[in-house]
Amino acid sequence: MDTDRITTQTISLLKGRRPVVAITAYDTVMACLADEAGVDLILVGDSVGTTQLGFETTVPVTLDMMLHHAAAVARAKPDALLVADIPFAVAHNDFPALLDACRRLMQEADVEAVKIEGGADIAPKIERLVRAGIPVLGHIGLLPQRFHQLGGYRKFGRSDAEKSVLVDDALALEKAGCFAVLCEMIDGTVAGTIASELQVPLIGIGSGPHCDGQILVCNDLLGINVRSVPSFVKQYAQLGDEVRTAFSHYAEDVRTRKFPS
Ligand code: KIV
Repeated sequence: MDTDRITTQTISLLKGRRPVVAITAYDTVMACLADEAGVDLILVGDSVGTTQLGFETTVPVTLDMMLHHAAAVARAKPDALLVADIPFAVAHNDFPALLDACRRLMQEADVEAVKIEGGADIAPKIERLVRAGIPVLGHIGLLPQRFHQLGGYRKFGRSDAEKSVLVDDALALEKAGCFAVLCEMIDGTVAGTIASELQVPLIGIGSGPHCDGQILVCNDLLGINVRSVPSFVKQYAQLGDEVRTAFSHYAEDVRTRKFPS
């Protein structure tokens, strides 16, 4: 076994040592680049639907789409831990169907763990998956798969009631055996409280600086978007502008017969 490979245990053990660095990727090229940059965890998020496939939300993303993109990312053979999302509604199917979805992602697409949206409600199923040998990354706070129930995206944990639900959800996921928990769009102070109560890392997105790690959607970080970028994102590049400029130069060169020379 490659000793540089990051496992679920490596991620759990980073708690209290240094922040976990996580990023999404949806294809081989981006996964190779992220891995060469030394990230700890690559998530094939169902955000593939909104970032790559032109959907308005993650709801239309199917298991087959996840398998297709996860397998492409796995072909990069990253040292980073490879995690894929369980798409809309699949975790709420009966347990054998959920188990089979995880089996397919691990056997057919070669991912090493799955991410499931939900808290205490889904914890009993996660506990059974973990007992079956399937590593699970939890996901609390904003659950984008519930877009049509929520009527939009917003911050969570601003009221005392929501804060206590979030703490209970995180603890239930840890008890169920999640090797880490992702929190999306949680109030920063609440995220800090949850991080201090958990033994496993709390990986944040739009949840402030007190988490045990951070994850960003690669397209947001790189500035390759057709839709607006959430305000919490730090953009490290504006590749969309560079790509557009390169395409225009190419078009101009072809029209004016400068290329090929
Ligand atoms: O699908 C996704 O990209 C996510 C983000 C919260 C990282 O789940």
